[in-house]
Amino acid sequence: MIILKELVHAALSLMPAILSILPKLLHGPHRYAPQWKSPDIPSITIGVDVAGEDVNLPLLGAGTWQYNDTIAYESVCKAFRQGYTFVDTASNYKNQKGVGRAIKDCWTRDRKDLFVMTKIPGGLGSAEALSAAQENLEDLQLEYVDHLMTHFPADFDVTPSRSSREARQEEWLVLESIYYDGKARSIGMSHYCPSHIDDVLDIASVQPAINQVEYHVGSGDVDHVIEKCKETGITFMSFSPLCGPCEYAPEDSLVHGKIVSEIAENYANVSGSQVALRFIVQQALSEKSSRTDNRSYIGGVIPKSNNVDHIRSNMDIFSFQLNQEDMEKLRNTQRPAGEGGDCEVP
Ligand SMILES: NC(=O)c1ccc[n+]([C@@H]2O[C@H](COP(=O)([O-])OP(=O)(O)OC[C@H]3O[C@@H](n4cnc5c(N)ncnc54)[C@H](OP(=O)(O)O)[C@@H]3O)[C@@H](O)[C@H]2O)c1
Repeated sequence: MIILKELVHAALSLMPAILSILPKLLHGPHRYAPQWKSPDIPSITIGVDVAGEDVNLPLLGAGTWQYNDTIAYESVCKAFRQGYTFVDTASNYKNQKGVGRAIKDCWTRDRKDLFVMTKIPGGLGSAEALSAAQENLEDLQLEYVDHLMTHFPADFDVTPSRSSREARQEEWLVLESIYYDGKARSIGMSHYCPSHIDDVLDIASVQPAINQVEYHVGSGDVDHVIEKCKETGITFMSFSPLCGPCEYAPEDSLVHGKIVSEIAENYANVSGSQVALRFIVQQALSEKSSRTDNRSYIGGVIPKSNNVDHIRSNMDIFSFQLNQEDMEKLRNTQRPAGEGGDCEVP
């Protein structure tokens, strides 16, 4: 009888501990992780809109390439819920309806606090370019976008009639008309090399704000493009910051590879992918802090992810700083190499 009493007593005294771990056992560890406090995302000024207001580009956004409407919707909603304020899409991604629905359903703040970047294909004639930009707005269910760029210095097949100085200039003038109409707060280009930039600058009356180009640890082959952007007041902006679509050996991965993982070990609670993203963002922050106009010749990062843990981790890159030695190591790394080749577009 006494033994039974003691057993009941022991079981009762263990009850609070059992109750406290039961939910964890049932639902897994993430629900009980410390309350996530999303960091403030710094921004840089990339120009002024037609009303004379500064256009501020957040240094972190959500990429959406290769996502269909459904995944784009899910991933953008997840990113917004974690505190992202910037989404990158394109008419070629064929997911703008999904992105538009995500903005409608999951963006809970004012429209002006959100940065939407999109693209029309390169090599379009005037009427085609106007209609592509209008379709973007309809799909996104927006009155205006914060940045509209031409996706490539030609069409992706590099058809001769759509791949020339004249074709680039014709399309640029359409982007300018959209800017003057207030339907894009800033305009720019993607995959442009120095000679393509010159073609546009020769006729531009609106300063191009951004050139979005593949740039990540290992892609030093775009240094001359960065230099050209710096000289001409265009913000050079990275795409594929984790080298998502690159083909590389596992040791070169920008998530778990040797280079980024070894550097990550020098810092507390930092992962390889955070090192890769911070490498780019730190260059922007360093330039921004050396100036008084909140500008930087280099922008931030738009990692793509549909995994909440990754989305959070990719956001947590503003609370640590890579030392100069590690920045140099990352800058001098030649792998994983970027695709390159855009400079051959005539
Ligand atoms: N202008 C252009 O022509 C152009 C071209 C390419 C890309 N872009 C833009 O740049 C964006 C980003 O580039 P990207 O899509 O090529 O790829 P990326 O962002 O370099 O890499 C994406 C891949 O990394 C994984 N990932 C992301 N965060 C991770 C983390 N913390 N840990 C582990 N894995 C992680 C993702 O998988 P999970 O879902 O599992 O996280 C996904 O497979 C695009 O989505 C697009 O918006 C523009």
